[in-house]
Amino acid sequence: MKFFIDTANLSDIQEAYDLGVLDGVTTNPSLMAKEGIAGHDKVMAHYKAICDIVDDNVSAEVIATDFDGIIKEGKELAKIDDKIVVKVPMIKDGVKAIKYFTSEGIRTNCTLVFSSGQALLAAKAGASYVSPFIGRLDDVGADGLQLIQDIVDIYDNYGYITEVLAASVRHTMHLIQCAEIGADVVTCPLNVITSLLNHPLTDKGLAQFLADHKKANG
Ligand code: E4P
Repeated sequence: MKFFIDTANLSDIQEAYDLGVLDGVTTNPSLMAKEGIAGHDKVMAHYKAICDIVDDNVSAEVIATDFDGIIKEGKELAKIDDKIVVKVPMIKDGVKAIKYFTSEGIRTNCTLVFSSGQALLAAKAGASYVSPFIGRLDDVGADGLQLIQDIVDIYDNYGYITEVLAASVRHTMHLIQCAEIGADVVTCPLNVITSLLNHPLTDKGLAQFLADHKKANG
């Protein structure tokens, strides 16, 4: 399973990369705004700075919602670096744009996916990644993980190459359950990745090993 970090914060991206387990980054307009990144040139420069940290897979989201606008923006984003994946919302013009980008060899991430039907459309259009949002479904009383399972099953039935990128992942159990289901990718904040390190028996065991070593060696 690939690990993506869901942030536009450069130090979090660097920390996850330095851990040696990072396969990519997802951003969205809210995450960019949270870092105070505004204005065309600053946004472009920030995406480039992210690309300079990681090896591949930097999702950069278009703001346009009409076909021509999405194509123009997506092409400009794709020119920043070969690592860019153009993130396109699950709307009618977005699906058309994904089909176009696929024919041009530009990778896409279809975002804001909340149903199996939407995921099926994204795959048929040739999206490289589909992003179902687990946490936001859970927030409205639906079952986010069940959607991941359904999409994995549907894609397996037909051998779609679109990778299931579980998004809006809020805690480690989301991540572990996505791994059990067979999601191709999980994107989450840094703390969800680093929380995987923790187990009280690891801490207890290490303390005992070090204490015994000290007793024997002085
Ligand atoms: C996906 O790419 C989105 O950026 C993200 O996972 C949304 O997560 P949130 O629901 O925690 O904002």
